[in-house]
Amino acid sequence: MAKRNICYAVMAVLLVVSLAVAACGPEEPAQPTTAPVAGGELEIFSWWTAGGEAEGLNAMFGVFGAKHPNVEIINATVAGGAGSNAKAVLATRMQAGDPPGSFQVHAGHELIDSWVVAGKMESITFIFEDNGWLDKYPPGVIEVLSYDGEIWSVPVNIHRSNVLWYNKQIFADNGLKPPTTFDEFFAAADALQAAGVTPLALGDNGIWAATHLFESVLLGAMGPEAYRGLWTGETDWNGPKVKEALETFAQMMAYVNEDHAALSWDQAAQMVADGSAAMTIMGDWAEGYFKSIGLTPDVGFGWVPSPGTAGTFIMLSDSFGLPKDAPNRDAAIAWLTVCGSKEGQDAFNPLKGSIPARTDGDRSLYDVYLQSAMDDFASNEIVPSLAHGAAASEGWVTAFSDVMTFFVADLDVAAAQAGMVQACQGAGVCP
Ligand code: GAL
Repeated sequence: MAKRNICYAVMAVLLVVSLAVAACGPEEPAQPTTAPVAGGELEIFSWWTAGGEAEGLNAMFGVFGAKHPNVEIINATVAGGAGSNAKAVLATRMQAGDPPGSFQVHAGHELIDSWVVAGKMESITFIFEDNGWLDKYPPGVIEVLSYDGEIWSVPVNIHRSNVLWYNKQIFADNGLKPPTTFDEFFAAADALQAAGVTPLALGDNGIWAATHLFESVLLGAMGPEAYRGLWTGETDWNGPKVKEALETFAQMMAYVNEDHAALSWDQAAQMVADGSAAMTIMGDWAEGYFKSIGLTPDVGFGWVPSPGTAGTFIMLSDSFGLPKDAPNRDAAIAWLTVCGSKEGQDAFNPLKGSIPARTDGDRSLYDVYLQSAMDDFASNEIVPSLAHGAAASEGWVTAFSDVMTFFVADLDVAAAQAGMVQACQGAGVCP
């Protein structure tokens, strides 16, 4: 586990190296190697139902359909951001021996701890080899998909978690600059509140969105090295920086929309879009959402790294895997081949609000935000997301979110910190 976490630290360096390697490596076969699949149904399981993510998925279905016209895709989505409902449905199906053809799973601990170690997946190293992909992905990305010398899923993207999105018009009207520190954040929040605008939109009807906000606050309070150590047992959950992050989060909650517990992440993003709130801290799937409702990046909305986190990129990656006994295995392999191809990724990511996991995406297809994310991913410190399966096992994430459920309601810093210590112990990472 520690080994995988270290890999995030070197990922940016490795990305640059792999770009150089890719430039002189063997040519990828011009087209994905699978011949048209004879037919049948192919069930693709995900939680992509919101604006942006649904369009991205459909674009990838389009690429698949053009190559495999006789296969009927069953779009098995379970609504609920971050897989808040989908993961439970998937677990029940997998336990019952009823896997879909392929399913969405976060690269990192979610993939490895939940599914690979449990013996539920087929290794897909052969797909990487057959398609000449081994030098098309940053070695650090391949590492987080690997276990026991094999690769276990195909990454379709890289998302960034620590982004503050803001309404440019509101900021201009109030003579404000987007905040880069917590002090600036609270100063802007006071000004916005005085002007009658909700400063920060939150939609945590799935508690993961509060965990998502908190991981950005943690990083902003403690910096990348200490943040990384939280997931390896090297940083003390009982220490002063975690306490500071909890206090900052509690302070932030005074500036959040009152109905936050009733809203989804995209409804919170919508508040920023329509000007009923000024900011939201959300992963860059919010960018896909903003574009899906017709907003232009850097016009209808702006972005900065969440307070105190410039220079660090909290990363996560959506991937698709091959369950053992996948129905219509040939079609599932064909799907994974599209997911990992340049064509598939360049169709999906510009709509999804993510950047390709491959290093050779066509930059000209990506808007100004996504190009900035590409640059940041290549140059920033990379740390893993807790809320999206990269940093910690599913059990730990669940225990953590249980703590957050109480914390957003009672803002009891001491109780939350004790709960976080326990969650780390429960995961077997803290003594
Ligand atoms: C994340 C996922 C993203 C996006 C988001 C909201 O967990 O990685 O792709 O879908 O949830 O649903």
